[in-house]
Amino acid sequence: MTDSITIALSKGRILDETLPLLKEAGIELVDDVKKSRKLVFPTTDPAVRVLIIRATDVPTYVEYGGADLGVTGKDVLMEHGGDGLYEPLDLNISRCRLMTAGRKGEAPPGGRIRVATKFVNLARRYYAAKGRQADIIKLYGAMELAPILGLADEIVDIVDTGNTLKANGLEPRDLIENISSRLVVNRASMKMKHGKLNPIIEQMAAAVERRRQG
Ligand code: ATP
Ligand code: PRP
Repeated sequence: MTDSITIALSKGRILDETLPLLKEAGIELVDDVKKSRKLVFPTTDPAVRVLIIRATDVPTYVEYGGADLGVTGKDVLMEHGGDGLYEPLDLNISRCRLMTAGRKGEAPPGGRIRVATKFVNLARRYYAAKGRQADIIKLYGAMELAPILGLADEIVDIVDTGNTLKANGLEPRDLIENISSRLVVNRASMKMKHGKLNPIIEQMAAAVERRRQG
């Protein structure tokens, strides 16, 4: 049915901030997501259903049309890459910074640099653009351990308060990008389901604007 809409949301910290925005766009989940093992949730709009999946899977679902709309972090979108998605709205939630970091008080090495991160594509592009030769080491979490244990000279990771870096003897170095969560839309859906999608996007944009004005 061309009028039914599937929205892919990131579970975890983004979800808590996304649900109120969706509610202001007239879409409310029927179940309590925290208490449910479901992956697909009906909403108060019978034509709209919501998937709750890992943030890193959201661009993939939206790109391949498994979902029409999605919400995920700009960091995840930069790592995913490609131009398969429309990104019509900055939701201004889950704000943080994507940064390089290294051992406190130490300068980065002059020559080839070893970098541990879960953002391997993004890191490769970043160091290449700076003209630095970099060996990128893929980790799935706890990147802060890598410089301490001599696995890497630098990490590329999310920084918010800076507490995690500090607690692990590291300090921030360069800002790569200011991060927030974004609404993404499947390209074909944008054309085919324009009539249903546009009001949702517009109402979410209005909710974001109301928050911006405080
Ligand atoms: P997964 O568990 O699926 O591997 P994750 O642990 O990165 O993903 P979250 O910690 O929920 O998932 O983070 C999701 C997104 O929230 C990140 O991609 C980023 O955009 C943002 N984010 C991550 N850490 C912070 C933070 N400390 N403060 C604010 N936003 C953050
Ligand atoms: C995120 C990120 C950093 C930390 C930064 O981790 O990966 O480690 O937050 O925040 P801070 O600068 O305020 O300390 P998160 O808490 O999501 O843990 P996880 O990535 O291990 O899930």
